[in-house]
Amino acid sequence: MPVSNDLILSTALAFCDWSAKHKTRRDMLRSHTFPRPSAPRWSTLDSTLTAELAEFSKNLEAASASGSPVALKPLLLHTCASTFMGYFCGLRFPKGHAKFEQMIVNFDKVFYEVNQGYAADFLPWLNPLHTRHLEQLNQWSHQIREFITTEIIADRTPGVVGGEMTDYVDDLLANVYSGSDNSLDLESALFALEDIIGGHSAVANFLMKIIALIVRRPDIQNRIREEAATVAPGTIPIPSRVPYTEAVLLEGLRLISSPIVPHVANQDNSIAGYPVAEGSLIFLNNYELNMNPELWSEPEKFNPERFLSASGEVRQPEYFIPFGGGRRSCMGYKMVTILGIAVISAMFSDFEVGPAPSVDYTVAPGSLALPWDTYSFAVNRR
Ligand code: HEM
Repeated sequence: MPVSNDLILSTALAFCDWSAKHKTRRDMLRSHTFPRPSAPRWSTLDSTLTAELAEFSKNLEAASASGSPVALKPLLLHTCASTFMGYFCGLRFPKGHAKFEQMIVNFDKVFYEVNQGYAADFLPWLNPLHTRHLEQLNQWSHQIREFITTEIIADRTPGVVGGEMTDYVDDLLANVYSGSDNSLDLESALFALEDIIGGHSAVANFLMKIIALIVRRPDIQNRIREEAATVAPGTIPIPSRVPYTEAVLLEGLRLISSPIVPHVANQDNSIAGYPVAEGSLIFLNNYELNMNPELWSEPEKFNPERFLSASGEVRQPEYFIPFGGGRRSCMGYKMVTILGIAVISAMFSDFEVGPAPSVDYTVAPGSLALPWDTYSFAVNRR
């Protein structure tokens, strides 16, 4: 049965209120999406990502061998999806696995669609004009759900309570079948899992924009390469060891200025003396926060150094909030940082990436999403 949009909105984590279910979902995610370098989950992420990056490098070499421009997006999506699948679900699908490839395409279409702003988002009476979009979203979501239930959940023994938890799927199912007061129903657990697996699209689209932003900056690419050379071979970089590369990602996030999920005031309050009534919808203007010349010098410039202290450590001003803040803040930001750094470091270590003829590398602010057919790059093995 197609999944209804109302159901998606009421169960997707990003649209939850601060209910017990919402808190349970955040608590359960923490050890998986915020792995500490000393924790066993970090070793799993390290080995999964290292293996996927070796495959990425092989595929990129093959794709660039003819000398024609390379469409990087499908390769990056594949690497990020396989890393998420291995790390969160303990599964690996070989390249060319038709259902897995279709899942990647479906998630990317959903990600692109939900990142578009339509007048109907604010004027609901225009919704009838969007019936086709909504039907398509339903269809893609339905296919994703089918993949998740048949390929990921099907082989798991329900109720592994007391057994050894190996990944996020184990944790979710153990919670569902625990019978405790705060256990999730299976439907909510599946939505939670889709939210997280779908995070791979955000990472891959974000990385495409980062590469476009630095495609004409060999100076930046060289510094990333130099930092990557300081990391032990066969392991992924710990973010604190490669501050310049992290600063490149932060500068990309600033310029992209993707929107923050709207919030609702749960009590009467005031902001800078302006009254805010309970129930008001609150939008933060992330673009203004990131581009205001009173807060940033030469805000239009791509300058990673602005995120580095004099001693070379990453520092972020408190008004820089690309992942939101407080108890609704992004649960995936560490994954974005860890994967982003690992992919960018590996790619620039092994390859020179430059502009392909007649491609416009303008990066539009206001959204992370790119269409499927987007920038290609001139790539050469070093
Ligand atoms: C560059 C990529 C990403 C950006 C810019 C981003 C940004 C955001 C923002 C602004 C919010 C809303 C925060 C707020 O309301 O204050 C959010 C929420 C969320 N993000 Fe991300 N995100 C990214 C990637 C990811 C990934 C990869 C995952 C999963 C692995 C993820 C999982 C979530 C979840 C679960 C929430 C909802 C948290 C809650 O409401 O409790 N995000 N993200």
